[in-house]
Amino acid sequence: MKKIKVTELEPGYKLGKDVVSPDGLVLYPKDNIVTEKIIEYLDKWHVESVYVKDEEAEVVQTRRDTEKLVKEKYNKSVEKVSKMIEGLESGETIYEQEVKETAKELMDFTEDYYYFFKLLTQLEDDDNRLFQHSINVGIYSSLLARWLDFDDSVVQEIGLTGLLHDMGRTMTKSNDQATSQSKENEELDKEHPRKGFEIIKSQTKFNDNVAKGVLQHHERMNGEGYPDGVKGSSIHFFARIIAVADVFDQMTSVKFEREKKGVFKAIEHLNKESFNRLDPLVSRTFMNRLMDFFIGSKVLLNDESIAEVIMVNRDEPGRPLIKVRDEFVDLKKNREITIEKVLDV
Ligand SMILES: [Fe+2]
Repeated sequence: MKKIKVTELEPGYKLGKDVVSPDGLVLYPKDNIVTEKIIEYLDKWHVESVYVKDEEAEVVQTRRDTEKLVKEKYNKSVEKVSKMIEGLESGETIYEQEVKETAKELMDFTEDYYYFFKLLTQLEDDDNRLFQHSINVGIYSSLLARWLDFDDSVVQEIGLTGLLHDMGRTMTKSNDQATSQSKENEELDKEHPRKGFEIIKSQTKFNDNVAKGVLQHHERMNGEGYPDGVKGSSIHFFARIIAVADVFDQMTSVKFEREKKGVFKAIEHLNKESFNRLDPLVSRTFMNRLMDFFIGSKVLLNDESIAEVIMVNRDEPGRPLIKVRDEFVDLKKNREITIEKVLDV
């Protein structure tokens, strides 16, 4: 047992002794698990320190350390990719070895993906958006490849393709999507998969899977994609995986869309797209695994109330069964309620 200041207290700690008010009233008994609410009240009552049990303190500490580590690793990867993309813009060639190493590092996130998802719910967009997007798509693609049971070498190759998928944007000069609203820019932007493909073909020895994955990541199963409008099984499976990762990351980012759409709306969108535009197996796998992660999380609804995610409706993963106060609400039936934001996972 150790004594710690209330300012250092975190949810998850277990109280080692009763917390008693100055006039002898037991505010919280020994063994109570500390929550955010409790910390708030302790602060209100001017309690300065409390006793906590070592074991739980250790678990919380380990969790916090891992979170910090994952965040550091993520920022480092973003930095590496920014150097690579900026290098390309100023006429440098791709350093194959470096890209391979970064892709290998991205695979680490698939082990700690709980922390990666948590980090993503807290991430703020900034000018690094294209770099962040490249990393995120690299990680989602690696995760998808893992969930689809590919060997490590393929997982790494798919991650690498995700990492490189948008580098053609450096050549189409529309890497800042916020300024690419005009028709002309839109047309130019549609060339970025082909530009990326050409860079890979001319500058690297990466195999055809990688090049095809980059070329076809905006192709859609029904033939409505670009640049060639190919459909169904003519789309390389690398590209079908990148497409799901790409759509999801764009839907959950601020800059690429006008407003932040949130994870659940992104899932609903993926679900719709899985019927005609995206590969159904790839998108279902992604939605199901992602939703399992959000079971038990606290979410904010469009009527401002807070709810807990209880169970996933497999045929409509973006609209789960939730609990609002003591009432269960099935969002599949209550269509007017939407989940706006994830508050805590
Ligand atoms: Fe793209």
